[in-house]
Amino acid sequence: MTGELSPIDKAKFVAAKRAADYVEDGMRVGLGTGSTAAWLVRCLGERVREDGLRFKGVPTSTRTAELARDVGIEVISLDEARWLDITIDGADEFDGDLNLIKGGGGALLQEKIVATASDRMVVIADIGKEVETLGAFPLPVEVIPFGWQTTQALIEETLISMDVMGRHSSLRMNGEAPFVTDEGNHILDLHLHRIGNARQLALVINQMPGVVENGLFIDICDTVVVGYGDGRVEIRDINEGTVETDRLDFVEDDNLFRDLAD
Ligand code: A5P
Repeated sequence: MTGELSPIDKAKFVAAKRAADYVEDGMRVGLGTGSTAAWLVRCLGERVREDGLRFKGVPTSTRTAELARDVGIEVISLDEARWLDITIDGADEFDGDLNLIKGGGGALLQEKIVATASDRMVVIADIGKEVETLGAFPLPVEVIPFGWQTTQALIEETLISMDVMGRHSSLRMNGEAPFVTDEGNHILDLHLHRIGNARQLALVINQMPGVVENGLFIDICDTVVVGYGDGRVEIRDINEGTVETDRLDFVEDDNLFRDLAD
């Protein structure tokens, strides 16, 4: 069964499996969105079913909410939880300071709200997501549909004075129609190639009318669990300044690997 997984999927799986150990009885846990976060949700579902783990999950998208319920996790809203012990989520890029680009899956708004409302944010990622400088991955920016082309023009104009290498942007599509987020907004993907000052860019973009939120997560992530295709994991903690290594064996588990949708 695991023979069907690519090295990248194995890397995502081991990162998710290792991070699932952070969840303890009674916790309120933010559940991320994307293919790596989907592995986490499946691993947590397994712990609920097989070990009797009891926790409440706050999903960051309708997709994650559906999967979490399917695997037996108790789902509550952020307003019911109010504050979370931990959020575990994927990322599109992370740098040495554990600053991130997120939103490749279109869920950046809920992801940022949930991560910011957590004592700790743990990112799970395959090693391919590590970069020296953020920006090779297009930066997602959530904008309201009203006047989105005007907002796009304003963003591109503002980028002239920013420390970036490109300023072209594109409206994310879902087939023939614009992609619509869970909040009914659109996403502009900014092709910047290199972001010299991510903190400044995040502040400037968010000041524009029409922008709801951007996919730069600055000083939000505490720990990254990096997975490798051979089962190795590396746990880097920015607050402790520590790097721990571990290795996970793939166990051919029919329940976990069955019916993979992502
Ligand atoms: C979802 O909106 C994103 O922020 C994801 O966390 C990010 O795109 C990582 O996705 P994968 O785990 O599928 O690579």
